[in-house]
Amino acid sequence: MDTFKGFKRTDYCGTLRAGDAGRTICVCGWVQRRRDLGSLIFADLRDRTGMLQLAFDDSTPRDIFEKAASLRSEYVVAARGLVRVRSSRNPDMSTGDVELFVTELRLLAGSQTPPFEITEDSDVNDTLRLKYRYMDLRRPDMQRAIALRHRVTKIARDYFDEQGFLEIETPMLTKSTPEGARDYLVPSRIFPGKFFALPQSPQQYKQLLMLSGFDRYMQIARCFRDEDLRADRQPEFTQIDLELSFSDEEEIMSIQEGFLKRLFGEVLGVNVATPFRRMTWREAMDRFGSDKPDLRFGFELKDITDIAENCGFGVFSAAAKSGGSVRLINIEGGAAAFPRKKIDALSDFVKTYKAAGLAWIRLIDGGMTSSFGKFLSAGDMDALLSRAGAKDGDLILAVADANSEIVFAALGALRCECAKLMGLVKKDVYEFLWVTEFPMFEWSEEEGRFTAKHHPFTAPMEEDVELLTENKAACRARAYDIVLNGTELGGGSIRINTPQMQERMFSALGFTPEDAEERFGHLINAFRYGAPPHGGLAYGLDRLVMLIAGADSIRDVIAFPKVQNSGELMTACPAEVDEKQLRELSIAVVAE
Ligand code: AMO
Repeated sequence: MDTFKGFKRTDYCGTLRAGDAGRTICVCGWVQRRRDLGSLIFADLRDRTGMLQLAFDDSTPRDIFEKAASLRSEYVVAARGLVRVRSSRNPDMSTGDVELFVTELRLLAGSQTPPFEITEDSDVNDTLRLKYRYMDLRRPDMQRAIALRHRVTKIARDYFDEQGFLEIETPMLTKSTPEGARDYLVPSRIFPGKFFALPQSPQQYKQLLMLSGFDRYMQIARCFRDEDLRADRQPEFTQIDLELSFSDEEEIMSIQEGFLKRLFGEVLGVNVATPFRRMTWREAMDRFGSDKPDLRFGFELKDITDIAENCGFGVFSAAAKSGGSVRLINIEGGAAAFPRKKIDALSDFVKTYKAAGLAWIRLIDGGMTSSFGKFLSAGDMDALLSRAGAKDGDLILAVADANSEIVFAALGALRCECAKLMGLVKKDVYEFLWVTEFPMFEWSEEEGRFTAKHHPFTAPMEEDVELLTENKAACRARAYDIVLNGTELGGGSIRINTPQMQERMFSALGFTPEDAEERFGHLINAFRYGAPPHGGLAYGLDRLVMLIAGADSIRDVIAFPKVQNSGELMTACPAEVDEKQLRELSIAVVAE
């Protein structure tokens, strides 16, 4: 191998253009591939900006020519030479007008045959990609995603700095609190049997910073939640975390709109219209069956429970009479796109959301076929079609259930699935939405009690304070989510800032005063020393970058992500530790 000492890179490979012809330059990188044409050798050299063709011919000194002949994929080299215009242009390469005629070549490292080809479109299975993530990250699309992530973070830091926010770090080793997802625990060596928890978010610390007078806080914060993975969930993820004192919903939202407008303008050249649309949680559920509706297409839900209640179709009337609901979506122009067989697939699709089945009406060529039409009187059918706004060519899909949440979930997902299958989901359209007035609580089957839907530090709406005790299910929170194209980008709320209200909230959540004191005493106590009104929000940075990159999973915008079972394939962790480490931590592993 050659030494790198004394070599100084002058240019990145991907930046060279015809205007650089005649310059002597130095580049470094990885060999993409080498082509030998007898007296000519070409090698494409790749760095994080792109590729440049290196050229060697019979005027190249022998020793350099021989070294060029020994190059293999992923060898690391440095080359000096003269940029010259290529005899035959390559329109597929951004540097395709030029090549580097090499006068000095340093071979810096060899490489085994790579486990997969380092190209943008190579079809490699995910397990292999993640096992060799350092190689996978060399692919141009991954390089772009990681660079994009840097830009998004940088714009966030700049923007919030200009708005007077201070970036403040908060601890990674914190106290476990029982609300929210499962914690990742860290055993203490000094205190046997005691544990730290990794933060699920810096929520309590950022609120305490408000008490300390840092009235605008931001942090690019690592968060840890031991929960089941999905395409937009990782156990370890990053938030752009914000908190403000002496502020309210209007100001917080308008600062965020300014941020997102700037971000999408600078990164994508997209002019985002502000202010964003707003919708209460109730309206979002009723119209879209989701608290994060995708507004790029219609297919809104229509409630037909009143028509269903006394109709002749038992499935409908039973759901309506048992306190549930019957709702439909009109897939306009969908009749042709979904023949009978494809409707069966949609029926299977809603079953994954626990719906018992899918009722349908196909209006095509002036006729009508339906899975349940024969049970309905002409009058009820007319009422249903008119509620649906149905016309020839449409497909009506309905779900009935004694549990309306199943109806919302099934139809909310189905409208997205149909739009996707019909090619109506445009990637370059950005529909931002604020969803407001979330329920304060949600019922947890697992715990048999109401839990906080956002978190227990969220203030109830002023007009709903009495409902904290009288009717928890109806109590609304001063919480808001920012939604983009069907993804929850971020969420936040105005917080409780008096010890009395915070104690009342813990009691509404079923904590005894002793429990609350033990878990959250530090916060309740802090509120006794002058807590300003405050509120905030956190974006999922990974999700934000995923949407900007047009990726399908946050894994594609995280350098070293975890896989489905929360492990990491490259380092093979989690892993066992040795007995001595366990002993120091007073931990014994008991096999189940
Ligand atoms: P919340 O729990 O809603 O709020 O999280 C805020 C945002 O973080 C992102 N997010 C995730 N991203 C990837 N993987 C995960 N497992 C994951 N979980 C959440 C989402 C979400 O909208 N402290 C509050 C914020 C506040 O009230 O200020 C909080 O953490 O994009």
